[in-house]
Amino acid sequence: MVILGIETSCDECSAAVVKDAREVLSNVIATQIELHKPYQGVVPELASRLHTEWIEQVVDAALKKANVEKEDLDAVAFTNRPGLLGSLLVGVNFAKCFAYTLGIPFIGIDHIRAHLYASQIENPLEYPYLGVLVSGGHTVICRVNSYDSVDVLGTTIDDAIGEAFDKVAKFYDLGYPGGVVIDRMSKTGDANAFAFPGPSMDREKHPYDMSYSGLKTAVINQKDRFLLPGHEDTKENIAASFQRQAVNIIMKMVKKALNDTGLKRVSAGGGVAANSLLRAELKDLEKNGYTVTFPSLKLCTDNGAMVAGLAYNYLKDGKSDDIRVSASARVSAFKKF
Ligand code: KG4
Ligand code: ZN
Repeated sequence: MVILGIETSCDECSAAVVKDAREVLSNVIATQIELHKPYQGVVPELASRLHTEWIEQVVDAALKKANVEKEDLDAVAFTNRPGLLGSLLVGVNFAKCFAYTLGIPFIGIDHIRAHLYASQIENPLEYPYLGVLVSGGHTVICRVNSYDSVDVLGTTIDDAIGEAFDKVAKFYDLGYPGGVVIDRMSKTGDANAFAFPGPSMDREKHPYDMSYSGLKTAVINQKDRFLLPGHEDTKENIAASFQRQAVNIIMKMVKKALNDTGLKRVSAGGGVAANSLLRAELKDLEKNGYTVTFPSLKLCTDNGAMVAGLAYNYLKDGKSDDIRVSASARVSAFKKF
């Protein structure tokens, strides 16, 4: 089954052609980073305008790169929730028309599930496993039972982890996109220069939940309080100390969840799964007998391949949408949101 996957939920305009869920024939990602750089954050209206300009070319490029004619496609999949509404609508409407005129099935895909699925494309992992979803909009620890069944164990109760990276980078004018820059700067910084605090949560009420707004506030508004004697107040040290604590917060919950659930396999996904410290810490779990997978860097951030990959599973099970399918900014298959 050859599927075209379209992703326009935020600031990446992406189209991919994937065969039988595993063979990525093309995965074209046109990034809007330069457009949003002056604002150090995604401007929704600008994002949707550029998606409108680019979508056709991006799809053409994906077909060409895959050496596939549109008539050879078996189905079209597209992200339709959650995300920026205007941006989503561009992909949804383009994809529906495209598939409709070709007379082939189409299906709207949940962006969060697609991130969680991404690692399965390159490194299939047996279900169930502990899913770690870390992106600009979500921070979730869950039990993944199948491609379509997920039990949420914990989420952030305020900011998402990627949002915290982006806001710290913006405040200190470190560069854009924030997560990538902090990851890079941290390599030359001292992670022990600042003792930034983690959240103190009521673990009875929130067994696996996380919080990032306290850490963000400490780094932005009170950093001097946390500088340890004998250490320097440099941007690299702020970045490295912040990253250390941001990763600690989620790793603590990952370890607790693994311990409590008895799950032996872990897989991460989403933009922050590209973070080198988080990847190293997750990989380290293998020393304790866990199997750990995450997507290659290109499949961590938003991309069409994960959309087509996940869609294959639904279509194989006979599920698809009709022409009424639309975009939704918030509704996610994860009830908790
Ligand atoms: O999954 P994604 O592309 O879009 C959303 O669904 O949100 O994730 C984007 C997020 C941004 O917050 C970005 O700063 C973060 O992923 N990110 C990183 C890294 N690469 C991207 N955060 C930390 N380290 C990285 N290497
Ligand atoms: Zn995403």
